[in-house]
Amino acid sequence: MPRIRTTTFRKRKEAGEKLTVLTAYDYPTAKLLDESGIDAVLVGDSLGTVIQGKDDTLSVTMDQMIYHTAMVARAVEGAMVIGDMPFLSYQLAPEDAVRNAGRFVSEGGAQAVKLEGSVDKFGESIAAIVKTGIPVMAHIGLTPQSVHQIGGYKVQGRGEQGREQLKEEALGLQQAGCFAIVLELVQEEAAAEITGLLDIPTIGIGSGPYCDGQVLVMHDMLGFGPERRFVKVFGNAREIMARAFKEYVREVKEGTFPTEEQGHK
Ligand code: KIV
Repeated sequence: MPRIRTTTFRKRKEAGEKLTVLTAYDYPTAKLLDESGIDAVLVGDSLGTVIQGKDDTLSVTMDQMIYHTAMVARAVEGAMVIGDMPFLSYQLAPEDAVRNAGRFVSEGGAQAVKLEGSVDKFGESIAAIVKTGIPVMAHIGLTPQSVHQIGGYKVQGRGEQGREQLKEEALGLQQAGCFAIVLELVQEEAAAEITGLLDIPTIGIGSGPYCDGQVLVMHDMLGFGPERRFVKVFGNAREIMARAFKEYVREVKEGTFPTEEQGHK
């Protein structure tokens, strides 16, 4: 199976074909995702909330991200595997950023990394990672690692000033060499304008239908997340699993599992 590359991302945008991205954190679900024909699997630092049960992503470490990225990369043959750089892994100095991005590739088996923020803040780090030969996906709009500064999970890019600021950030990130930009919780028209402005694809989450592609957190689209306006539950795995667990408990208690069929004579 030929691997999806950054060049594929660019070609898809040029052809007007949507890009598909979902998160994964382990081998079996990453394998299923890859078999579904997904374009990219993001090992998101949403790990902190959906897997570790934390309130935010801020305490996720590099070692944890590498551990999960390696599991995902072992399963994925066709999609691009993108490792999400956790809080403080790229914000302090470009050397740290390159070392940590490099770990995603050399230890984790990823083909690209994602990081939150603009060129204003992290331009040197982004340029250094790109110069090292590691593709960078940017992430603007609602950036969960800055949730305390932003003041909550609110829609971004509202009003003339908000929209202009996001447009400037997006153009700067394209100029810095990013191969795609995640737009999270960006007002729909602003997301459409940014998408039209850029040569590189935008990947939306909660940013409406006009982005070049979409990303969702896998647990949200499988019914594990809290209800959110931008999330659609495509299959309720939570309900299926809950039913299976209850049935197992009932059958073991009543003695209908295991039967002779599952035993060894
Ligand atoms: O961590 C994550 O899963 C993400 C996506 C929501 C884009 O950053």
